[in-house]
Amino acid sequence: MPNHDQFQPMRSRGRARTREDRAYIADRGPNVFAEYAAKYGLTPPGEEAVTDDPPYGDRWTTWDDSTAGQRGPRPYPDWVVTELGAVDTELGILKTGKEADVFLLERSVPDTGRATLMAAKRYRDPKHRMFHRDDGYREGRRDRESRVNRAMAKGSAFGREAVAGQWAHAEFAALTALWAAGVAVPYPVQIVGTELLMEFIGDADGGAAPRLAQLRPGPDELHDLWEQLAGNLTVLALAGYAHGDLSAYNLLVQDGRLVVIDVPQIVDVVGNPHGREFLDRDVRNVGGWFTARGLDPARVGELSDALARDARLA
Ligand SMILES: Nc1ncnc2c1ncn2[C@@H]1O[C@H](COP(=O)(O)OP(=O)(O)OP(=O)(O)O)[C@@H](O)[C@H]1O
Ligand SMILES: [Mg+2]
Repeated sequence: MPNHDQFQPMRSRGRARTREDRAYIADRGPNVFAEYAAKYGLTPPGEEAVTDDPPYGDRWTTWDDSTAGQRGPRPYPDWVVTELGAVDTELGILKTGKEADVFLLERSVPDTGRATLMAAKRYRDPKHRMFHRDDGYREGRRDRESRVNRAMAKGSAFGREAVAGQWAHAEFAALTALWAAGVAVPYPVQIVGTELLMEFIGDADGGAAPRLAQLRPGPDELHDLWEQLAGNLTVLALAGYAHGDLSAYNLLVQDGRLVVIDVPQIVDVVGNPHGREFLDRDVRNVGGWFTARGLDPARVGELSDALARDARLA
């Protein structure tokens, strides 16, 4: 039988305060708790715990994680949220692709109502995607750091991350060049590691614009889309580029406006011995979609020839 008379609750067990303790506390005053709190990670009464989590959402903005060269061309469009107190919220996945997953991301400034939607394209490491683009296109792009080469050859985690990061950077650089040249591409907001943030092509409610492949345009719209395509490819060719992977899946249509996406592999046709073939293949691939819907097939060959002249290959 326990002797209840001798029971002491946990709190008051232990050493009674001595006169020295009381003197120590009196001497330090109210700061004594703060001192212990700091030492043992306690929360002083009346103070909030200090954490680095944003008030809502998934993370603080990553804007300041990018250097000037890792941000889109200036002047930054008004809708780009550059405030350092902004918060990123992932709203869903737009598409899982062969080489990357594309997410819908909102960047908003707390308590202001300022918010913007972006597409976040996150490149996967090569273990989790199909290799086809790595083989031919990467040839000749030598990394200055041999550590990167060795790691990639060994397929180490660092190497896989490096390859994914290279594709992300290649697409960021391509978007930047094409945006500056005047091609209708999503504005590249910033690049951080393997994540590329760009203008969201869709509506204000987060509905993504359809891919060209999903549309069934009437004759007038078909003609208009072809003219827009020819215009964009002309600007590309004048700048010396072919898209390199053009298809009705890599073209979005936002309220009738054609937007070119998925550009990490753009080809410098002037410096490439197969430049003309890349130009022709792009036009043939997407041209097939148009002719199947009623475009005069002669227009496809005409566009190829015109682009070759624009790129001074013919
Ligand atoms: N800026 C954007 N705005 C809206 N939707 C986008 C945007 N970028 C990509 N998407 C959507 O994500 C899909 C995949 O994007 P993208 O083609 O760039 O990646 P991918 O990895 O090459 O995918 P896939 O293998 O399907 O071609 C697009 O077809 C489009 O539906
Ligand atoms: Mg694609």
